[in-house]
Amino acid sequence: MTAETLGGGQTGSLKTAAGRIGPLKTRRAGLQGKWAYVVNSLQEIVPSYEDASSRISLFQDRRMRSEAVAFAVKKGDLVLDLGSGPGTMSKVVARAGGEPVLLDASRAMLRASGFTNSVQGVFERLPFRDGAFDAAVSGFAVRDAHDLETAAAELGRVLKAGGRFAFCDLGKSDNPLQALALGLYIRVVPGVVGLASTGRSGLRYGSLFDTYNLVLHNSELKALLGRYLGETTIHEMQMGGAIVAKCVNGKSAAGAA
Ligand SMILES: C[S@@+](CC[C@H](N)C(=O)[O-])C[C@H]1O[C@@H](n2cnc3c(N)ncnc32)[C@H](O)[C@@H]1O
Repeated sequence: MTAETLGGGQTGSLKTAAGRIGPLKTRRAGLQGKWAYVVNSLQEIVPSYEDASSRISLFQDRRMRSEAVAFAVKKGDLVLDLGSGPGTMSKVVARAGGEPVLLDASRAMLRASGFTNSVQGVFERLPFRDGAFDAAVSGFAVRDAHDLETAAAELGRVLKAGGRFAFCDLGKSDNPLQALALGLYIRVVPGVVGLASTGRSGLRYGSLFDTYNLVLHNSELKALLGRYLGETTIHEMQMGGAIVAKCVNGKSAAGAA
């Protein structure tokens, strides 16, 4: 599957091994029809991505990545890095003694990573057997899922029972004032940082605002992950705008749809 074939919206409920799970009240979680636009925008900023995204996170990204990896990864684990991009999270996994397998829809991102154990693919149809991974991590990519419920079900399938998944990402506070304040920050800062880092093409960082509008509130995200993966906790930072989510896979082959 490519950005093009996944580009259309998708509606309806999902049948999983855990039973039929209805859609969220308003819409299915994930970028849906905006997915191809956002992923194509990311491809255009590969060279500046690591530096600019670190600035946009107010340099909190390192601490968040370390927290996620410390929770999920044990020495010798085979670790799936979902939406690996240029391998930023995989480097942290390797330093912790894990063996990362990079998965990303973008070939340009995978090439930039320098890792050889990488697979081009999408979260919603993971090209791995059931229970293939001891652990999984993701850095600032879960929010970009085309369909978050399908992605969570797939992750539950390829992760061993009891396997840990942790990711850092943009969050959205359940407090409306905090969510509004962060929305204003994201409306302005990424575009300005992008412009300053790389010139006109950096304005593509403005697409982060499209993503933020579709991000679930932190309590909704916790509930969704809990349904598909099991026990989940979310550590909120920066008024809930930055999160580290930690899940333990409570099911074996949970997501076989
Ligand atoms: C914002 S970048 C994050 C990169 C990196 N993980 C990090 O820690 O900075 C998001 C990455 O997720 C990938 N991505 C988004 N949706 C995806 C999907 N449904 N399947 C596979 N990769 C996806 C994009 O191509 C992009 O490389």
